[in-house]
Amino acid sequence: MRRHFLSVDDLSPTELADLLALAGRVKSEPGDYTTAMAGKAVALIFEKPSTRTRVSFEIAVVSAGGHPVVLSGQELQLGRGETIEDTGRVLSRYVDAIVLRTFEQERLEILARAASVPVVNSLSDFEHPCQCLADLLTVIEHRGPLAGKTLTYLGDGNNVAHSLLLGGAKSGMRVRCATPPGFEPIPQVVRRAEEIAAESGGAIEIVHDPVEAATGADVLYTDVWASMGQEAEADERALVFPIFQLNQKLVDAADDDVLVLHCLPAHRGQEITGEVIDGPHSAVWDQAENRMHTQKALLLRLFGLA
Ligand code: CP
Repeated sequence: MRRHFLSVDDLSPTELADLLALAGRVKSEPGDYTTAMAGKAVALIFEKPSTRTRVSFEIAVVSAGGHPVVLSGQELQLGRGETIEDTGRVLSRYVDAIVLRTFEQERLEILARAASVPVVNSLSDFEHPCQCLADLLTVIEHRGPLAGKTLTYLGDGNNVAHSLLLGGAKSGMRVRCATPPGFEPIPQVVRRAEEIAAESGGAIEIVHDPVEAATGADVLYTDVWASMGQEAEADERALVFPIFQLNQKLVDAADDDVLVLHCLPAHRGQEITGEVIDGPHSAVWDQAENRMHTQKALLLRLFGLA
């Protein structure tokens, strides 16, 4: 496994499957890991807001006997112009891993080059790989092996969509991404996911018809229409996204046993209806819980402890 986790593409298909299996063990046998990170400190830096990522990483480290240090970009000297490289060099002298939520993916890459400890992407504008780990574990728990399953992502071709395309492809899934024209995932990611799928037996489909995309799907997934940093575009996006709302009509078009996922936070009445997110197909709370188990497993693997 590579030293850093900046993208789902940093894991081979085998490494991804093994990591998900470890996360399942971490979840089912938490008592086996209570001191696994003893003596390890992890810096968690947030340059964007967070509820799930912040708390799930913090509790993951504490519950394995490690020491998390949660920091906002503004309270660090980063907020006064210290470079991310210098921050990485200094923090590497104090902690055993650095987890960063930021804007540009390049900022993570620069940090990873400067740091001498593992760096983890806890969301950038380009990818949300830690979210993808929890998503895939949730599908396995609720529906069994991933290979051959159809996951339909509805809405904005954003960072979450990018990670799902890569992670789904590595797992041999058919990933359908249904977006309004102009909001597709970026071509570089689609091409890479297609390459991976060609080897794994998966498939990638980028479409614009939400009903067609939902038809027969094993998993329906959505995310907010305007991601963090896109708030100024929210009104404009609200004009073109409503037909991609994850509602009962799309659930009815999918497999009878369809699983509904959302990375959260959700806006009921926008990208998903209350009826669906709170309905019998939804596993969003398990999905949120799984952030903690998958991230604990990820850190254990990056530390070479499991
Ligand atoms: N899904 C997710 O990353 O949630 P937070 O933004 O609350 O961390």
